[in-house]
Amino acid sequence: MEFFEVIRKRHSYRGSFQPLAVPEEDIHAIMEAGLRAPSGYNQQTTSFIVVTDADLRKKIAELVPTAALKTAPVIVIPVSKHQVTHENLAFEIEDYAASVENIMLAITAKGYAGVWMDGDVKLNNVRERLGELLHVPEDRTVRAIIPFGVPEEEWQQKEKKAFEERVHFNQF
Ligand SMILES: Cc1cc2nc3c(=O)[nH]c(=O)nc-3n(C[C@H](O)[C@H](O)[C@H](O)COP(=O)(O)O)c2cc1C
Repeated sequence: MEFFEVIRKRHSYRGSFQPLAVPEEDIHAIMEAGLRAPSGYNQQTTSFIVVTDADLRKKIAELVPTAALKTAPVIVIPVSKHQVTHENLAFEIEDYAASVENIMLAITAKGYAGVWMDGDVKLNNVRERLGELLHVPEDRTVRAIIPFGVPEEEWQQKEKKAFEERVHFNQF
């Protein structure tokens, strides 16, 4: 798919997925896109847990019981590491977000759909409960849940605000 078509087609998908496994080479290509993202001082503070195991997926869906999580063949959990540069700057949030957007675009480019769930991780101690379930080390933080697969339903593109409302040339 052409790059700008991928950008236009990407959308959050929260419906059910078809009961189809995602081939390993597609998972690999999607994760590679995440690893290729820029990061502050090239510290590459984000790592990922790719959950394909049915029992673990079910346990994740019990924490956040949405249609997407109950049916997704793959659930990616980005995990960040708090690290500072010699100037005491930290970029774990920015690094994680850049990686995840690359992943969302790669999901679209490969013909799959998914959703970046960050808010849901912040509620009901989901972050901590996921960390425990997936044996995330103490020095890492679970940042999001990304279910993806072959969508079962059509999904609407969200309206975006007008170009002129958000893009300003030379001054705000
Ligand atoms: C930082 C961030 C947090 C988000 N958290 C959630 C979430 O917890 N649950 C969810 O269903 N969608 C979540 N989303 C998806 C947004 O709701 C979605 O991107 C937005 O409504 C625009 O729709 P679009 O992605 O289809 O363009 C999140 C997106 C971002 C970037």
